[in-house]
Amino acid sequence: MRIAMIGTGYVGLVSGACFSDFGHDVVCVDKDARKIELLHQNVMPIYEPGLAELVASNVKAGRLSFTTDLAEGVKGADAVFIAVGTPSRRGDGHADLSYVFAAAEEIVAALDGPAVIVTKSTVPVGTGDEVERIVERIAPAKGIKVVSNPEFLREGAAIADFKRPDRVVVGSEDENASQVMRDIYRPLSLNQSAPVLFTGRRTAELIKYAANAFLAVKITFINEIADLCEQVGADVQEVSRGIGMDNRIGRKFLNAGPGYGGSCFPKDTLALLKTADDNETPLRIVEATVQVNDSRKRAMGRKVIKAMGGEVRGKTVAILGLTFKPNTDDMRDAPSIAIIQTLQDAGATVRAYDPEGVEQAKRVLKDVAFCASPYEAADGADALVIVTEWDEFRALDLGRMKAVLNRPLLVDLRNIYPAEEAKRAGFALIGIGKPA
Ligand code: UGA
Repeated sequence: MRIAMIGTGYVGLVSGACFSDFGHDVVCVDKDARKIELLHQNVMPIYEPGLAELVASNVKAGRLSFTTDLAEGVKGADAVFIAVGTPSRRGDGHADLSYVFAAAEEIVAALDGPAVIVTKSTVPVGTGDEVERIVERIAPAKGIKVVSNPEFLREGAAIADFKRPDRVVVGSEDENASQVMRDIYRPLSLNQSAPVLFTGRRTAELIKYAANAFLAVKITFINEIADLCEQVGADVQEVSRGIGMDNRIGRKFLNAGPGYGGSCFPKDTLALLKTADDNETPLRIVEATVQVNDSRKRAMGRKVIKAMGGEVRGKTVAILGLTFKPNTDDMRDAPSIAIIQTLQDAGATVRAYDPEGVEQAKRVLKDVAFCASPYEAADGADALVIVTEWDEFRALDLGRMKAVLNRPLLVDLRNIYPAEEAKRAGFALIGIGKPA
């Protein structure tokens, strides 16, 4: 199959590289000449484990190439994937579809024969219909079909998620287009029978939002249960285990923490609420989730202040982990931002360490001393706060930490340190949803 991938963000680049690894012939297109130039030198514009190697081997095999020339890139393609950004529109929270429609217009004008246009970007219900209208307006006779194929990969685990998905969802209104999609995903069903679920196009578009909203609800639910655990002397990790062993609930996404962030959950829950509003079908559970999660991030800053005795003016806090989750350099809607602001507003000085996120963090955080190691960040600090559960924080030398800290106080917002271990090392430990 010949595939063109429009947009080389997380979704586009990972999907393009993985499709080429399946043996398809893939051209990735991006308007950003600097990005394409870097990709030609095998420099990845994002941090994603394993991606540089995957790109290099497929470029070498002649199956993967990069260009800024969309018209050239889509020539002869069986399928053209749209994987451009759909940020929240300033002002109203609706998904901004201008990049999707601009790409669709260019693709339709440039295609030289029948092809399937596939929206992989997260787009509100009805976007496929709109793209189809663009096809009808510009080139009704070329035999172009439009399908929806939402992506469920997680940053930091994107390649594994792409290659070993729980399911692939394809929303199609046309049997020939469905067959093209079946052929594209055939390597997956051959290897390990990942089910490809065919639905109507609108249904597929909604599945993506419903999945992300459900996961956001699940996280927020356990976060509120964690708060209750603290009040009643229960342990949220055991509650999670206890309820998660029920297959109907499931174990995953029940880790209480400082609130969800990232490029997807915050934006997609808002966009779903807009769709719900527009259709006069309020989604109250999702509304509550958004509110609870928003207020949780600053509440976590206040939790740190409380752990430090209620007064942080003139004190120093060491923050470990700035990105919204491990194995990414992504700072979008990261809880660290609101937590650090809350601490600074209360007069604290902040020192921070993150394995990959510092460059991005520098753009959004002011007056933070960025350090080269966890121990440097802790040097002279009155508290050590784990905000993101990077693996390297799981095996800190607590003895060495204690020696450099002003006070042996560990606030573990991801519950990665067992109470006994902290106690043995002489630390006071405050976790999430733990008995006092
Ligand atoms: C999420 C979904 O998991 C993907 O399936 C989806 O494809 C993607 O959004 C998207 O729409 O593109 P991602 O945002 O990369 O992926 O990250 P997650 O691993 O889902 O984590 C999201 C946030 O939830 C993080 O801030 C994480 O710390 C938090 N989280 C997750 C918890 O606080 N507790 C958990 O148990 C799980």
